[in-house]
Amino acid sequence: MSDAVKIGFVPFSAAPNGVLVLFTDESLKFGPASGKPLGTAAETVKRAAAASRFKGKNGSVLDILAPAGLKADRLIVTGTGKAGALKQEDFIRIGGTTIARLRANAEHVTIVAELPGGAIKPADVAAIASGVRLRAYTFDRYKTRKKDDEERLKSTVSLAVKDAAAARKAFAPADSVTDGVIVARDLVNEPPNVLYPEEFANRAAQLKKLGVKIEIFDRKAMTKLGMGALLGVAQGSVREGRMVVMRWEGGKKSDKPVAFVGKGVCFDTGGISIKSAGGMEEMKGDMAGAACVVGLMHALASRKARVNAVGAIGLVENMPDGNAQRPGDIVTTMSGQTIEIINTDAEGRLVLADVLWYVAKTFKPKFMVDLATLTGAIMVALGTEHAGLFSNNDELSERLTLAGRATGEHVWRMPLGSAYDKLIDSKFADMKNTGPRHGGSITAAQLLQRFVDGTPWAHLDIAGTGMGAPSSDINTSFGTGYGVRLLDRLVADYYEAKR
Ligand code: BES
Ligand code: MN
Ligand code: ZN
Repeated sequence: MSDAVKIGFVPFSAAPNGVLVLFTDESLKFGPASGKPLGTAAETVKRAAAASRFKGKNGSVLDILAPAGLKADRLIVTGTGKAGALKQEDFIRIGGTTIARLRANAEHVTIVAELPGGAIKPADVAAIASGVRLRAYTFDRYKTRKKDDEERLKSTVSLAVKDAAAARKAFAPADSVTDGVIVARDLVNEPPNVLYPEEFANRAAQLKKLGVKIEIFDRKAMTKLGMGALLGVAQGSVREGRMVVMRWEGGKKSDKPVAFVGKGVCFDTGGISIKSAGGMEEMKGDMAGAACVVGLMHALASRKARVNAVGAIGLVENMPDGNAQRPGDIVTTMSGQTIEIINTDAEGRLVLADVLWYVAKTFKPKFMVDLATLTGAIMVALGTEHAGLFSNNDELSERLTLAGRATGEHVWRMPLGSAYDKLIDSKFADMKNTGPRHGGSITAAQLLQRFVDGTPWAHLDIAGTGMGAPSSDINTSFGTGYGVRLLDRLVADYYEAKR
């Protein structure tokens, strides 16, 4: 884990050193606990705010070096905007924007967790701490020389709070989820020569330490299951494919599990329908769906979620090769349905077809959510702000939409229907793996729907959100870890037994 900061909690009364962070809103006032560390520097803050036109707007930061009258070496005032309207997502961002101002030289940071109206409540303090960790994350495992400004932020961040014990208690589960996001990001950021299917499976198997049950299916095992679609994609690579099934049993024995399925194309060259060279290196991230599922299982197990959850990932490498599948090939899926390959670059749906079917039949889950960097077309439609949501179930869609709003990992529902479904009927097989160019994300989802066996299901097309999105308040790395917080929230709000 590329973790750069250590988080701790101290009482309001603790004396800050290094960098002091205070929050204010559009009133530009401070809460009672901020008054003491601020002391006579309050006057300097007023002048600095006026001089830099700092208005306390959400996301704005006032940065003052060595203000007279202050023990700390530097004062950062983070604006929160209108304080009344702040959701958990906002507190995560506030943590992120605050830490974004710091560099490697900030060894110790004290954040006074109060607004002008008073102490920030424990759950929101935990959100600030998560934002700090998410923004401080860097993936620099392969950099042997580091430039000054790239140097890893290595800080201890102390949150000064009203009740340190309560804050620590709220922080524990939030920290598990943050760990899960970082697990997902690390997997997406790893280079494809390191992280091929077998190695990915080994990393997923690490979840055993948290009490997750792991089953790994190799080529032989998947051949036995009849997974001709997944194996057809895998056959072009010298690296064998794998399916990994992870089970977290935190619920009642009799409870049906919730299930998550991830596309794990460790590298997507396009196969025989090869992609053009420009930007192809980004296709190391074509396993972001699988990475999210591993990160989510990490989060659920680590915070001991009271739910039965299954995570299943299909891991392959899509390569051109003498043994690669061709356009025109017809493969037989585990379900018995046949697929004519038109374009070998539409490989994710082939992998998911077999894994979805396996999960539906084996576990009869309450629902299945799959995540996949499935189509470039979803980026044309939604950019990088929303994942595409396709579903056969209105209740599940509504819940995902609300979890998206709560976490800031947004989804936008897209249509399905028989008119789209017809577009993938084939002359030679039960279906073909691509339709016309227009509506490409929808026809991809229609193919998946043919393999869910009537199970309540949602498909998240995360091609725009899972990797390569522009830097945000809480992420500067290629892998975003998108989906971990969203799905953890879905589980926590709707499927977990209350404590
Ligand atoms: N992995 C790609 C989709 C993708 C593209 C993800 C860009 C992230 C960024 C997927 O396997 C793919 O190649 N899809 C094709 C489908 C087409 C051949 C029908 C696409 O979107 O062009
Ligand atoms: Mn592809
Ligand atoms: Zn792909």
